[in-house]
Amino acid sequence: MTSAVPITAEELYHKLKNVRVGGSVCQYSLKKCGELVPLVNAINALKTEKDAVILVHSYASPEIIYGVADFVGDSYKLSRDAMMTKAKVIVFVAVRFMGETAKIVNPDKEVLVPARDPGCTLADSITAAQVRQLRQEFPDYTFVCYVNTTAEVKAECDVCVTSANVYQVVERIPSDKIYFLPDKYMGMNLKNEAARRKLKKDIRYFSGVCYVHEEYTREQIMKIRTEYPGAKIVSHPECNAEVVANSDFVGGTEQMLDYMRKTKAKQFLMLTECGLSARLQSEFPDKELVGSCTLCKYMKSNTLEDILSTLKSPKPSERIVIDENVRVRALGCLEAMFRYAEQGPARKVVCE
Ligand code: 13P
Ligand code: SF4
Repeated sequence: MTSAVPITAEELYHKLKNVRVGGSVCQYSLKKCGELVPLVNAINALKTEKDAVILVHSYASPEIIYGVADFVGDSYKLSRDAMMTKAKVIVFVAVRFMGETAKIVNPDKEVLVPARDPGCTLADSITAAQVRQLRQEFPDYTFVCYVNTTAEVKAECDVCVTSANVYQVVERIPSDKIYFLPDKYMGMNLKNEAARRKLKKDIRYFSGVCYVHEEYTREQIMKIRTEYPGAKIVSHPECNAEVVANSDFVGGTEQMLDYMRKTKAKQFLMLTECGLSARLQSEFPDKELVGSCTLCKYMKSNTLEDILSTLKSPKPSERIVIDENVRVRALGCLEAMFRYAEQGPARKVVCE
């Protein structure tokens, strides 16, 4: 996506000029791009020198996505990209659990997460000890964890899923008793979708929530439907069941973009973090965003300045280190996901 050939302020501005979300932090003038370009070029030069690759989640700030990213996407795509890269160093511009996923599949590579606050309300909502306790309470259940979990939690679970494959993977798991964790809304959505698909599965779920997606309501959708009757409502499965039931499309962030790319509609309400709205504005300038979005403070705690300093000389807290026993067990959980997800033609992973 980027190269060590220096870019100009005009080139960066061309990619960022249509971005209008998230207040003044996410709006770009040619002057502002001129101020960003020296940092962008320093990072891209250092990346080549250090044999590093930069993976960026779509929720990160637009100047990172369009300035220094080698790979951009959702957690599923980025975990695949992390597996494929030949670079010695992976800089994961996202949150800690995503960096951990990259380290689980790449034990010999240096994985660095430059975020100042690399948390996630979902990943931080459950511990490995709680999973062990739940396994004792529900011994005949298959434990399915969302990728938004720590390596220690993955190590205690049987199969991992991401928002892009949760319905498809759970459908393919032969067990009829599923314990899903940690997201309660995704758990409810999974239960509803399983009923819609007429799957005979008893699905239980934990009580975690994402503070960003928790904000969205059915009332917000109804208001937009009245004001913009042609607008399509696109939501993430971390939203509550009422939001999901009233959406035109539900999917992981990459699937949301794909839907918007393919549909003829011109207006969209996007019920997910503002980074995705920024991608829509930059990459599909003929499509219009209606309503507002919410920022994830953890994803937005990544900055160009910190990426540069992490690449130059990483702090111990920015290095991902995982106990080998935990890593091997967490790898088993991730490999089970890849096996189920890539088992053949997938049924549509959407609720339309
Ligand atoms: P995606 O895998 O859909 O990108 O979601 C990650 C995430 O953290 C959503 O809040
Ligand atoms: Fe975690 Fe929510 Fe931020 Fe995604 S948007 S990283 S689930 S806090």
